[in-house]
Amino acid sequence: MAESSISSDRPVIVHTFSIGNLQLPPVVVAPMAGFSDWAFRAMIRETFRGLVFTEMVSACALSRGHARTQKLAVLDPREGPTGIQLFGGDPGEVAEAAVRAEAAGAAVIDLNMGCPVPKVLKGGGGAGLLTKPDTARAVVVAAVRAVRVPVTAKLRLGFAAEGREAMELAPILEGAGVSAITLHARTRAQGYGGRADWRAIRELRERLSIPVIGNGDVVLPEDAGRMLEETGCAAVMVARAVLADPRLPAAIQAWLERGEHFGPPLDFGNRVALLRRHFALLCREKGRERATREIKKFAVHYLKGEPGAAHLRERLTRAGSWEQMEALLVASDGR
Ligand SMILES: Cc1cc2nc3c(=O)[nH]c(=O)nc-3n(C[C@H](O)[C@H](O)[C@H](O)COP(=O)(O)O)c2cc1C
Repeated sequence: MAESSISSDRPVIVHTFSIGNLQLPPVVVAPMAGFSDWAFRAMIRETFRGLVFTEMVSACALSRGHARTQKLAVLDPREGPTGIQLFGGDPGEVAEAAVRAEAAGAAVIDLNMGCPVPKVLKGGGGAGLLTKPDTARAVVVAAVRAVRVPVTAKLRLGFAAEGREAMELAPILEGAGVSAITLHARTRAQGYGGRADWRAIRELRERLSIPVIGNGDVVLPEDAGRMLEETGCAAVMVARAVLADPRLPAAIQAWLERGEHFGPPLDFGNRVALLRRHFALLCREKGRERATREIKKFAVHYLKGEPGAAHLRERLTRAGSWEQMEALLVASDGR
């Protein structure tokens, strides 16, 4: 559990929390499909050595050794601790995929019980498991038996708009052997609408002895401090806000551990510099042609909030080459 000394002064001082025998900083970077590849993780790793997840990987495809899926689960041994997230509802496939994920170097294997995407639900995984406690339990038991690394689960609060299945399911999963539970405190039906219900994180924490990782709407280091304080969770997980600033996990860690602010806020020049480094890493991982296509979705996030960004982002999205993107950035004074 978190070793913390909570005072009325901010920040909350939290040094580490544990997943199994791993001691980790109390900030975890969430799995994000279509984003959490090696290049993105390498951007985060410039400043952060805590736990970072890959995007979700199909247990069915990984267990069968599909080449494209296997690439999603390739880890660089020099990365810090990296978790591989699996989705699927078949215990045998999940166990086989977990073995492969462990062999690939995963420090943690997470089971997705929150994804609302129809393709994932159809395969019996994701948020569908919230309403199938027996299957969810069997999937956890199979994974825990198959590997030595800790197995965790990431849940949404419930399936329907007012659903709260996570409250009953999480203790079952704890009994089945998961080492920690992440709660994205929204229901499947809510998608990303409304606000995450942090009171539900507190309630879940009170029902479990294993660490609860709170997730939903942490954007600033101060939000992470508030979430820890208000919910008593062991750690916070951040997703969308990291897309705009890969230094955010380190900034949260600095704030929680030492009450320090981490570097000046990003200005346009810093954002362009991040984008250029990210492009170089993407080229290394996937080749220039694919990198030129894929950097655009990251550019949208890096440039969010800058004056005139909407227009620039639109023009970047239509650019046919990196050179054209560079010209647009320089013309916008991104020296
Ligand atoms: C683009 C995108 C992709 C995501 N992919 C995954 C995924 O693969 N697995 C998962 O469990 N959650 C996924 N999520 C959900 C996030 O991990 C996280 O639970 C959610 O965004 C709430 O956290 P936030 O408020 O910090 O963004 C994804 C979210 C986004 C925005």
